Amino acid sequence: MSPPDKLVPSAGSVFWREQGALFLEGVRLSQLLEAGLPTPFFVYSGEQLRADFAAYADAVAGLDAVVGYAIKANHNPVLLRRLASWGAGAIAVSANELRLAGETGFPAAKTLLHGNGKRREDLDAALGAGVQVSIDSEFDLENLAQRVAAGATAGGRRARVLLRVNPDIDAQVHPYISTGLLDSKFGMPEAAVERLRPRLRELAKAGHIEVRGVHFHLGSTLKTAQPVLDAARSMQGLMMQLRADGHPADTLDVGGGLGIDYSRGRERIATPAELVTGLRPLLAELGLRLWLEPGRNLVGRAGALIGRVLGTKDNGRKRFLITDASMAQLIRPCLYGAYHHIELLNENEGAPADGVEYDVVGPICESSDFLGQRRRLGPARPGDGIIVYDAGAYGFAMASRYNLHLFCAEYLVDGTEVRRVRRAETFDDLARTFADEAVSLP
Ligand code: LLP
Repeated sequence: MSPPDKLVPSAGSVFWREQGALFLEGVRLSQLLEAGLPTPFFVYSGEQLRADFAAYADAVAGLDAVVGYAIKANHNPVLLRRLASWGAGAIAVSANELRLAGETGFPAAKTLLHGNGKRREDLDAALGAGVQVSIDSEFDLENLAQRVAAGATAGGRRARVLLRVNPDIDAQVHPYISTGLLDSKFGMPEAAVERLRPRLRELAKAGHIEVRGVHFHLGSTLKTAQPVLDAARSMQGLMMQLRADGHPADTLDVGGGLGIDYSRGRERIATPAELVTGLRPLLAELGLRLWLEPGRNLVGRAGALIGRVLGTKDNGRKRFLITDASMAQLIRPCLYGAYHHIELLNENEGAPADGVEYDVVGPICESSDFLGQRRRLGPARPGDGIIVYDAGAYGFAMASRYNLHLFCAEYLVDGTEVRRVRRAETFDDLARTFADEAVSLP
């Protein structure tokens, strides 16, 4: 894969301060508030996106590899188009994600559909576009076989499939985002895959499928590459069996999952280069093509959530800083107890260095509506801007309209240029889906 020359990993952070004011690339962020842009909104850095993709492109240099971007992390089409233009593949989990991948320029040959419960429309979209499909269970295989038999594949071709194995390896992450243990609903234990071998042979013989290899995804926010390397090694026997059964089995897809340093400087997280270096011997030994599926690692750092302070209150036990940004835009703190670093856009001069300890909360009617707890921030006045860092992944993508806080806008910074890459939803947009009509039953 050869990204353009300027696609080099960046040395420092794209966020920096001058006289207390926070800049993203060449833009002083409080200017966005001064320009009257309604808060909250997400803002992305073109440079950070480029640098983070470059780290993957560098890591796989010289390998037969697809860096498949997990669209679920952030589906903004402008970001997708950039990633596609740099040579990324796409990892989709629904017909709509597949459609968007196609419309934003990802080639079908580098696109893959996952899902533990693929619906007929998901399967038909994948088969129609000729993208690869992972097989998550026996019933998933049978559903796919049925759609192939019904003629859903493009040009009557075979469905190219990867078998999703659950290797029962603990990625040591929050249980809600751990997927490589048998407590998780994803994939099949190796023994179950082995039981499927006769059926796979049969379907291959009938010209319905082509087994391209195996896939696993251990979980998200991984700090080290070791669990992935262990899981990859453990696939060797199965890979050989599949080949012995006459399948091409030339692809190893190790999923995504590498974390980012949400603490901004205090944590050591394995790099894509470390991961891929560790995989190289196995890939060479078995002559395998590699698929990677990073989501967070490509877009997480590039995005931040910007809000305004509505006010502060002290109830005698706790101090709260209430902002217009909330769990409706970023549910990660509430859902996973996730840490996101929070700062004021302008660090007020004369503020005590250790600041005041606040729970930073939104205006949503839920006690779980917090963005950060026990955060030391300088004294904040109503109207001050705040930033929640590292919100580019699973921020907007998991946003809700709870309390009818409608979907917010997104902006993209490139140097000194700011582009709106999604407008905020309006009440009228929402109201267009309201209905009150009779449904005729069979
Ligand atoms: N591949 C598969 C099969 C996946 O299930 C996922 C994420 C990825 C790739 C991308 O993982 P990443 O590189 O982004 O960690 N909402 C959670 C994360 C859920 C991830 C679900 N699967 C969060 O906010 O942390």
